[in-house]
Amino acid sequence: DKGNHRHFMMKEIHEQPAVVGQTLGTMIDPIQGHVTLPDMPFDLAKVDRVTIIACGTSYYAGQVAKYWLEQMARINVEVDVASEFRYREAVMPEGGLAVFISQSGETADTLAALRYAKSQGQHILSILNVPQSSMERESDVVLHTHAGPEVGVASTKAFTCQLSVLACLSIAIAKARGKIDDKEEARLCIALTEAPARMADVLNHEEAIKTLADDVAKARDVIYLARGLEYPIAMEGALKLKEISYIHAEGYAAGEMKHGPIALIDEDVPIIVIAPSGRLYEKTVSNMQEVIARKGQVIFITDEKGAASDGQDAVATIALPMLDEFVTPILYSIPVQLLAYYVAVAKGTDVDQPRNLAKSVTVE
Ligand code: F6R
Repeated sequence: DKGNHRHFMMKEIHEQPAVVGQTLGTMIDPIQGHVTLPDMPFDLAKVDRVTIIACGTSYYAGQVAKYWLEQMARINVEVDVASEFRYREAVMPEGGLAVFISQSGETADTLAALRYAKSQGQHILSILNVPQSSMERESDVVLHTHAGPEVGVASTKAFTCQLSVLACLSIAIAKARGKIDDKEEARLCIALTEAPARMADVLNHEEAIKTLADDVAKARDVIYLARGLEYPIAMEGALKLKEISYIHAEGYAAGEMKHGPIALIDEDVPIIVIAPSGRLYEKTVSNMQEVIARKGQVIFITDEKGAASDGQDAVATIALPMLDEFVTPILYSIPVQLLAYYVAVAKGTDVDQPRNLAKSVTVE
């Protein structure tokens, strides 16, 4: 049932404040300000290496987690797509933690990668949405996303719930390794629990994004640029646009622009720059200026502080509410989902059932 929405994708985008809240509620005690995960059959404090494997959108959630875990927990993290990982004979010293992320729990390549990691003596932790899947049966521990059934082929609410679980897992690993204290844990938990309300704020202002869709729908190519925690969101935004609007799009690390892709830029290429204020803000804005100087048509997605200081030469600026830097990937997922949705609607594609795609990829 789509409720009063035209497509399941839109309904699922709008469910995000609620399902992210529910997912966080299973792990965060907001009064005590700490994260509690289910009992693990291994000691998180003894893990000194994390390998994260997934496909598609779930893989981008893993990319965000790499930044969180390295920064907060000071642990080695490797992330790969399952189709490459399963055949590349990765070296995995025993006792490492292997994390598998899957909405369906049935993706053939991710399941094969899980079996490989198991054969290499890794602890298997899976982050899954659909209950009682094949991956669930073969994992040592499962953290569930509480997104509910996701019908739209393009993943939206499962993704932000995956990020929510990964944020909690990162806090728990950081804590177990003694890299953050109780006070910092409480601060991070409070920041996370603010996410649902901020997501709802963004959804209440979706007109701002809708008005950009007609122009973006005319483009042949679209480039998303970001740094740090938002870099995977740039790639996710590009994937969403590709799969439902059939426009070629690429997510690029903003600093890589000058190593090639800047040659693509002219007045016909929309460039979506994602830059919340924070540690990498100035760097990303300077890449944005380079693009504008080459007549790139920039849509600047930032926060209230960023919008007040930069973006005068952008075609449009979307100002999101302020939120702790740590939580920004969860919030900034929403405008890229909405943009892809409205562009697809403008193009008249089949939003919920895009051509050539299946919801669950059970063949390799
Ligand atoms: C994109 C999308 C796919 C899936 C990928 C993995 O919107 O839905 O890229 O994310 O096929 O699927 P799961 O998470 O079920 O393993």
